Amino acid sequence: MSALIQALRAALDYRQPLLAELHAQGTDCYRLFHGSQEGAGGLTIDRYGPQLMVQSFHSSLAREDLLALHAAVEHALQLSLLLVYNDRSQGNSRIDRQDPIYRAEEAALADLVGHEWGLNYRVRGRHAGQDPLLFLDLRSARGWVKRHSQGKSVLNLFAYTCGVGLSAAAGGASEVCNLDFAEGNLAVGAENGALNPQLEPMQFIQSDYFPAIRQLAGLPITQRRGQKLPAYPRLQQRQYDLVLLDPPAWAKSAFGTVDLLRDYQSLLKPAILTTAENGVLICCNNLAKVSLEDWREQVLRCADKAGRPVREWQVLPPAADFPSRDGQPPLKTLILNF
Ligand SMILES: C[S@@+](CC[C@H](N)C(=O)[O-])C[C@H]1O[C@@H](n2cnc3c(N)ncnc32)[C@H](O)[C@@H]1O
Repeated sequence: MSALIQALRAALDYRQPLLAELHAQGTDCYRLFHGSQEGAGGLTIDRYGPQLMVQSFHSSLAREDLLALHAAVEHALQLSLLLVYNDRSQGNSRIDRQDPIYRAEEAALADLVGHEWGLNYRVRGRHAGQDPLLFLDLRSARGWVKRHSQGKSVLNLFAYTCGVGLSAAAGGASEVCNLDFAEGNLAVGAENGALNPQLEPMQFIQSDYFPAIRQLAGLPITQRRGQKLPAYPRLQQRQYDLVLLDPPAWAKSAFGTVDLLRDYQSLLKPAILTTAENGVLICCNNLAKVSLEDWREQVLRCADKAGRPVREWQVLPPAADFPSRDGQPPLKTLILNF
């Protein structure tokens, strides 16, 4: 047996109790192998409902390894799963190879449905973006939101495919607003809404973060000298009871730069001001090189400086399908009570 399959078997054994728990909760989307921590850096194996999504980030998988890992997962889960292998080891190299082993079946690339916390989510093996449509390490946060959003107004910032918004709607939120600048991501959010017709409809705002959050927070929108700003939707100043801030590590737009390493504060301060008195802000930082302690200090200091000191805070670690040997998972999540 290859070292990879041995490592995968150990990962599957370790997850048995977790998988039983997840299945009982109505979840069939989870990480089965987190290579960087489980013996094969640059390889991830995820289940998305009926699909098995294998992704390699450093080097391509050999055909016999791909076949063997598919078989090992199906054996451990006692299920057949539709295999999609996305090799991301050389810039946009997701294209199917000639060898049929690497080619996904048509059924694996069709629009599928996965489940998390009893909700339906769109699953698509390949689409315009690189990442799968649901980030699995944020499952704990989505669960927390579902349990704590009864009667609350909820703002989901950098909403992507609106999983947090959907969880809030399922938790009985009085109102859910998802904000993102990417039309395609919000369109998947709308599909996710339609896949759960029992829920109250969500709102979607397609806008750059900076002008949107600054208007909501009642802050001026600054223009770089000599540069005319593109048009943006006009919003009224207001606050929400529960706000989620989960930005990408780095992104540049005409309105500003999202930079979690050098400038978390310019994202955080307006989000704090948009959180109601006695409200909750959940904020995330997915940069592995930022330590939880340093970032938490920054966050608490920023809240003090904004005149909105945090009353209580709590760390929400990812679930056990994202093990971290050093106790420092890349995705850090803080729940701040004001
Ligand atoms: C890492 S995803 C966020 C994950 C998301 N919170 C979730 O629940 O899965 C990053 C998202 O930020 C959006 N984005 C990046 N820069 C933005 C900006 N300046 N304004 C608005 N959205 C932005 C992208 O379109 C993408 O959907």
